[in-house]
Amino acid sequence: MAEAEHTEAATDPDAPRTFTEAGLSWPQELRDFAHALRNYTDLSLVVHARSGDVVRRRIPRRGLWLFHPRHLRRVLRTNARNYPKNAAYRALRPLLGNGLLLSDGELWARDRRIVAPEFREGVVARYLPTIVGGGEELLEEWSASVGRGPRDIGVDMQRLTLRVVARAMFHSDLHREAEAIGHGLEICLRQATRQMLSVGLLRRWMPTPGNLAAGRAVREIDRIVRDLIARGRRSATHEQDVLSRLLVATDRESGEPMADQQIIDEVKTLILAGHETTGLALSWTLYLLAQHPEVEARLLAELRRVLGDRPIEAADVPALVYTRMVLLEAMRLYPPVPAVPREAIDEDAFDGIRVRAGDNVIAMIYVAHRHPEYWSDPERFDPERFAPGRAEAIDPYAYLPFLRGRRACIGEHFAILEGVVLLAMMVRRFHLERSDQRPIATRPMSTLRLARPLMMRVQARDAWARRGRAP
Ligand code: HEM
Repeated sequence: MAEAEHTEAATDPDAPRTFTEAGLSWPQELRDFAHALRNYTDLSLVVHARSGDVVRRRIPRRGLWLFHPRHLRRVLRTNARNYPKNAAYRALRPLLGNGLLLSDGELWARDRRIVAPEFREGVVARYLPTIVGGGEELLEEWSASVGRGPRDIGVDMQRLTLRVVARAMFHSDLHREAEAIGHGLEICLRQATRQMLSVGLLRRWMPTPGNLAAGRAVREIDRIVRDLIARGRRSATHEQDVLSRLLVATDRESGEPMADQQIIDEVKTLILAGHETTGLALSWTLYLLAQHPEVEARLLAELRRVLGDRPIEAADVPALVYTRMVLLEAMRLYPPVPAVPREAIDEDAFDGIRVRAGDNVIAMIYVAHRHPEYWSDPERFDPERFAPGRAEAIDPYAYLPFLRGRRACIGEHFAILEGVVLLAMMVRRFHLERSDQRPIATRPMSTLRLARPLMMRVQARDAWARRGRAP
């Protein structure tokens, strides 16, 4: 059945339209604020249904919530220079320094030019052995836990994706260092999140146990990466890992190599930005599969047909069409980054909306992914939306888990390759059964976490898997 999804071809994204801004009474704002602290993605759906596509807010900061894909396009692409990242990103500065996620201007543009080639579509296949190796280690653990009690699959996914991205950064013999960095980053991220949620009460200079632990972790990470850089510079390796390539990279315009501190910041940024998101995408996908046995059966049929019982190879990935559709649809319902905050430098006007200089503008990806003008029956999990021939018709700003525009994710191809391969490996060998059937709510922070652990029993699919051979 054809979807009623609007397409770029069908709708001129720049044709004038008028939208009405909804302002809220103070009591309503206060009620909404309390709701937002509990769950802002949940609130965003309520607000969109109640107040429409553009909502003006005064709490916690003055600004606008935008839901409509054409307005996301305005903020993220057409007039993106007017909307840099807002102050919310500052909490990460002590941890990530001037890495790509936080930097701006010329420094950002230069590093993006240097790092981007490592993550191009045709290039990421070089990371496949790292991805498969990480996946096999987890499957070994799962084999040993068959017949035992349920496992926290969300924790498994975080450990797996951390292992994969950290190892992709360094030589294959540096697993121990890679994982030490990953764990240090986790400590720091937990503290940065606490600080963001404390509404200004918890300051970085306070000697709380959390702040002290985060300070120690940052120093330890910097020491390890600095040491790896020194070793890398001495050995001038031709390895396929990201660090080796950053060491020899020069900016094609200035001819300059990267400074050590800048390399440290980029390595930390890539590990941090590259694992939680992918881990969440996989967790939500496994959660949805457990609720949709018909989708799981079709997925398994594809895996058996394409992979049989041999290990996955780079050439298999394009043939895993349905696997990819499942992953993309899971990220529509549960985008790992559900919203991005920006701040207007100058005033702006479009579609009857007036943005004032200094307004905080929140691009609500979570609502755009369900926008009724673009998606029919939006709450339904239906991988068919991404079938070849249909996916092309989706408006790019109605589906943007990796964001769009100049600050779009640099790791999109890596993440999709990793997601497809790991999903294929897991589902091919194991069936995961939930230990309870209650729905799991979202717990949005800067990423879209699960509100409670995803507890599942691991069951081997067939005798071949029970013998413990890799797919
Ligand atoms: C499913 C997995 C992923 C999702 C959903 C995702 C999503 C995003 C989003 C929405 C942004 C924009 C953030 C903002 O503007 O606030 C972003 C930026 C970024 N992501 Fe990802 N990401 C994923 C995986 C990865 C991976 C695997 C890497 C690297 C190995 C990575 C590296 C980055 C970097 C460096 C940025 C900053 C880019 C810039 O501003 O130039 N991401 N990602």
